[in-house]
Amino acid sequence: MIDNDSLWTLSYYRLSEITGSLFFGRVVKTVGDHPLQGELTKHFADEAQHAWLWTDCLKSLGKKPLKLDRAYQDQYASVIGAPGNLMEVLAATLVFEQRVIGQYARHLKAPDLAPQVSATLRTIMDDERWHLAWVRDALKGMWADYGEATVAAAVARYRDADRTVFSDTVSDVTQRLARTVGLNLKGVSS
Ligand SMILES: [Fe+2]
Ligand SMILES: [Fe+2]
Repeated sequence: MIDNDSLWTLSYYRLSEITGSLFFGRVVKTVGDHPLQGELTKHFADEAQHAWLWTDCLKSLGKKPLKLDRAYQDQYASVIGAPGNLMEVLAATLVFEQRVIGQYARHLKAPDLAPQVSATLRTIMDDERWHLAWVRDALKGMWADYGEATVAAAVARYRDADRTVFSDTVSDVTQRLARTVGLNLKGVSS
């Protein structure tokens, strides 16, 4: 069994994966015959699979996902606005994926994890590592069109927005996440 904070947290992860999948689904519909079409489509499919994996994990723990209103990454738009082009989409994705993999890695270190939860975290993290790798490579490939400094500046803007979202607007989330992974807030918010 899992406690209410853990149920909330796994439901929150699930919502984030659903939101990521829908976001990438929209992106992949707009890019058409683009050199990154394959990577974008695989990314979209992976995030949908992750939503299913959390759903299945919760089911195996005798729980149903909670219906939560607002995903973590929805709040980027309030802070920084929507990405204006594919380069900015990938800059936002790089920052977000780093946040995700960092959070999942911390969660994996939590004491007394249900085996289903640690197995799900490990499976998803394998995919998230690939997400980070392809997005990082794709951004490098865009240096020729945008310039390295412009790409770096976009990543830095999203990094700042991510810090704002994490520290200012999701204090309730951070507290629940911190209780779930058994770490203090300082360790979680860095
Ligand atoms: Fe994911
Ligand atoms: Fe991902």
